[in-house]
Amino acid sequence: MTILVTGASGLLGAALQRSAPATARLLLTAHPDDCTQPHMLPLDITDARAARTLVERMQPTVIIHAAAASSVDWCEEHPDKARAINTDAAIHFSRLAQASGARFIFISSNAVYGSGARHREDEPTAPVNEYGRTKADAETNIQAINPSGIIIRPNLMFGFPPPGGRDNQVSRVLNALSAHQTINVVNDTYFSPIASDIVALMIWQLIPQQLTGIINIGSAERMTLYELSRLTARVFGLDEKLLEPISHRNTSAPAPRAIDTSYDISRLQSLVGTIPSINGQLALLERQLSDVGA
Ligand SMILES: NC(=O)c1ccc[n+]([C@@H]2O[C@H](COP(=O)([O-])OP(=O)(O)OC[C@H]3O[C@@H](n4cnc5c(N)ncnc54)[C@H](OP(=O)(O)O)[C@@H]3O)[C@@H](O)[C@H]2O)c1
Repeated sequence: MTILVTGASGLLGAALQRSAPATARLLLTAHPDDCTQPHMLPLDITDARAARTLVERMQPTVIIHAAAASSVDWCEEHPDKARAINTDAAIHFSRLAQASGARFIFISSNAVYGSGARHREDEPTAPVNEYGRTKADAETNIQAINPSGIIIRPNLMFGFPPPGGRDNQVSRVLNALSAHQTINVVNDTYFSPIASDIVALMIWQLIPQQLTGIINIGSAERMTLYELSRLTARVFGLDEKLLEPISHRNTSAPAPRAIDTSYDISRLQSLVGTIPSINGQLALLERQLSDVGA
């Protein structure tokens, strides 16, 4: 099985590499500026011709399209570029997959949801920011082009970012608290946060199954960024008093955020079984850190 992964230098891309099945031959692509590892193929996903040449030459069995402009605020400030990366390039890859007979796995986002809570895959999307709209529009097109594919909507992901990668809530908190710095954390927006390593494992479990459509991937628990940060501090033995809970109304972020993008994960659980608790996922990360330090 030859599997093409875009965005291999990102948080999820790195996790997919760590847990890939032994039978998978991975073709890892990364933006030419991030292609620091010799085994990665440079590819700007907005270069439609280069993408076509790569897919036609390599003939992958599966394409996992994880590359994206994933900063919500950057997308708000660069809507045209965000659309080119998150919508147009994703649609192009889905067409390439359809034409070459490859299974297409599109990595979407919890940002396609708006009002409400405990979101289900079959409810209408209602994104409140540009990032969410670019993902929702990609999904709509991809479902029409590639009905046999899978759309994965990871919730808020956390983990140790690969070198040069973007920080996430857990790594941000670990950096601040390890340096004994206080950090403001929003305590009135809700998620179903999940470790990128668990998302990757779920994706590898789902690929061989004969399923289509949308799958929410998140933890069963619903929590705020502050609650996640406090749990992180406790698991890593850091000072939680340095965490300052604030309201989302008191941030100056350019992009609006939905109040609650927590998930109903019934579909996921019916396919892969129980998801480890967030505490357990953080404990696993802490053990990885201890093993490196040992
Ligand atoms: N992290 C989350 O909490 C979260 C939640 C829901 C959904 N998602 C989605 O899950 C996927 C993986 O997220 P992630 O956290 O792993 O994001 P990430 O760490 O930002 O990785 C995305 C990768 O895509 C690359 N990329 C951006 N533009 C590109 C281009 N034009 N050509 C080639 N590569 C390009 C990025 O490179 P640069 O670093 O150079 O930009 C980055 O390495 C994304 O589709 C994201 O939207 C993420």
